[in-house]
Amino acid sequence: MKGTKMRFVALVIGVLISVSCGFSQCPIIPAPVTFVTAAGQFSFGEDIAINSDNAPSGIIDYAANRFTNTFGIRVVISPSAKQLVFKKVANVPTDYYSINVGETIIITYSSDASCFYAVNSLFQLIQGNPDQYSIAKCFLKDYPKFSWRGLHLDVSRHFFTVDEVKRYIDLMALYKFNTFHWHLTDDQGWRIEIKQYPKLTEIGAWRDSTVNAHYSTTPRTYTVEHTGGFYTQEQIKEIVQYAANRYITVIPEIEMPGHARAALAAYPELSCTGKQHGVEGLWGVFDDIFCAHESSIQFLKNVLDEVMVLFPSEYIHIGGDEAPKTRWKKCAKCQAVIRENGLKDEHELQSWFVTQMDMYLTSKGRKLIGWDEILEGGLSPNATVMSWRGFDGGVDAAKQGHDVIMSPGSHCYFDHYQSKNSTEPLAIGGFTPIEKVYEFNPIPSSLTAAEATHVLGGQANLWTEYIPDMKQLEYMVYPRALALSQVLWCVEPPSFEVFRSVLIKHQLNYLDRFKVNYSRAMCYPEMKVSRKEDGLGVVFTAADTSDQLSLIVRVDETNIAPKFPDFLIGKNILSFKRGIDSVVTYRFEVKSEYMPKPSEFKMTIHPSIGLNVEYITAPDERYNSGGNLTLVDGIIGAKPWKGNEWVGFDDQEIEFIVDLGKKTKIDRAELNFLEDIGSWIHLPNFVRISVSTNGKKWAFLPDKPIYKAQGCGKHLPFAFQIQKKARYVRFKIVTYDTIPEGMPGEGHVQWTFLDEIMLFSK
Ligand code: ACM
Ligand code: ZN
Repeated sequence: MKGTKMRFVALVIGVLISVSCGFSQCPIIPAPVTFVTAAGQFSFGEDIAINSDNAPSGIIDYAANRFTNTFGIRVVISPSAKQLVFKKVANVPTDYYSINVGETIIITYSSDASCFYAVNSLFQLIQGNPDQYSIAKCFLKDYPKFSWRGLHLDVSRHFFTVDEVKRYIDLMALYKFNTFHWHLTDDQGWRIEIKQYPKLTEIGAWRDSTVNAHYSTTPRTYTVEHTGGFYTQEQIKEIVQYAANRYITVIPEIEMPGHARAALAAYPELSCTGKQHGVEGLWGVFDDIFCAHESSIQFLKNVLDEVMVLFPSEYIHIGGDEAPKTRWKKCAKCQAVIRENGLKDEHELQSWFVTQMDMYLTSKGRKLIGWDEILEGGLSPNATVMSWRGFDGGVDAAKQGHDVIMSPGSHCYFDHYQSKNSTEPLAIGGFTPIEKVYEFNPIPSSLTAAEATHVLGGQANLWTEYIPDMKQLEYMVYPRALALSQVLWCVEPPSFEVFRSVLIKHQLNYLDRFKVNYSRAMCYPEMKVSRKEDGLGVVFTAADTSDQLSLIVRVDETNIAPKFPDFLIGKNILSFKRGIDSVVTYRFEVKSEYMPKPSEFKMTIHPSIGLNVEYITAPDERYNSGGNLTLVDGIIGAKPWKGNEWVGFDDQEIEFIVDLGKKTKIDRAELNFLEDIGSWIHLPNFVRISVSTNGKKWAFLPDKPIYKAQGCGKHLPFAFQIQKKARYVRFKIVTYDTIPEGMPGEGHVQWTFLDEIMLFSK
């Protein structure tokens, strides 16, 4: 080890003339461990002579293809070549490589995968245009932090062709991802040919309708069209090999016991009721799941037999998430399995079900992975957990000595919105901007160093309910995937500001070379709202300071407001005073060179903007991006929700106090609640309001029940009569005990989402 380190030093000193150092100058993402530049550059001619030594021929072919196809540089391979030389080294960290660019280019590598990573880094260093390509002289060394650097793709909700999946893999390879989690089965389509069960693809791969608009929008409407598709076993082998050539392991996911409607459409006898349903055209969680009787278990083992032949991966993913127990509770066959195995309840039955698969896969020398629900009812002995409902499931599993992959919705769900911009395409909900992805650390501080060794790495998931094609797929994944690749690769990731500047300066051009339809959300103008003593301040900013922004303001959707003639983006603060008793809506249109259309921001000025709000009950940190300003920031929570304008709680009692600053006549309050049953978000049961002049003695008003009919499930706020003089208004929101049986999330405490509190004096 020591000897190797010494050699690096010698190499570096040999190259450097004037030294500067730092990640901000390194165009590579994920950033290497060390990067040092020197004066001068290596210039490419029409061809390049490569001495490949014993580097894998597949990698040399890959490099040759890219030299030729992207840069028009011909490759000559020769053992005496000096221009680009590969050398294998030992006694270095796992997957270590280095690149030394001087008068020649020397690549050292320690494994086949690291040789491939080196080639990919080399291509990111090349600057220039067809007249002259070059690389600034530099030395870098590099190796990854985590061994699991994954991207997932759901091909059930929308089908993607073999060529599209290959492109997904190609782009992953550019950023050193090494695990492709292929979600092959779900309620809306079974996508893998299984020879023993031909109906899985004859019937299960096709649906006749697909819900359009957001699934929470009612009444629902459907596009009636026979759509779907599947991969033959030959095509699967081809994709697995294609990925292997790029040092990417494909992990198949066969969902069980839930998300099984497509399989049950083909073989209804595998369900508890035996009833025939079609392949589902709606998104969500469905009650009909695999029955736990022996014939379903045997069916799934037979399916896994064929899966294991096609996928050489150590891990096989069996899903395990979102399996309602409604049918199992009423099924004589399932209840018999519970009795015969001395199980306590249906959660233990799910654990038993997963254990059957675990024992089977283990007996074949493979390892089972499941979503974190597999912890419920007891974790199967050899299972690895993929933690998606936050970090807690992963922490729990690691503390129990199980391996873990972190993939929390808060940071790793690329089906969430990535900007607040009104031009964003429809998404499922949630808000995961690139900054949030960059904050991802798969190792929570609650793990000891020993427990942390169970965290294999992290992964982003791409569920495709609202992603119908490749263009939108790329928009959702890029450039967020670059942030993920950096935090999974780098032992010490550079700051977000450095990452963003490298991204804008170097990587957007690089993605352009591959014609990637990436999002420019990180360059979009943002509206930032702050509390002022008498109301709110609003400022517009953009991440890229070279961007020219301009602003049009409209009032109540119609007139162009005359108020802000010489507005300077990023400098001026627009001030809005409260104190009026009416509600005025401003609409801001901000034009940016990065945007096809102006960004639109809406702001509702009302009598409570900027008032002080004190939370007695702390909101969930995932749904509290605006702190205690959100309820009075003039930005009204959108429906369907985009995850950032609402304040979310998973408590049964929620309390907060609004301070009007002085004793004031209050006629009524208005408050919005969100309802999205599929996301476990329900209206509360009742609200108890009390008022006070000194914040100590409170006068209580009668409890007000919340009825859907009164508007709060729709787009109307719920109104509370107050008719008192007071300085403080205290709200206590009380929910129902738990989510009722038969609904998504049954038995759990409901989520309650609030936004914009308005207090009117007349
Ligand atoms: C999941 O998002 N249901 C794993
Ligand atoms: Zn059953």
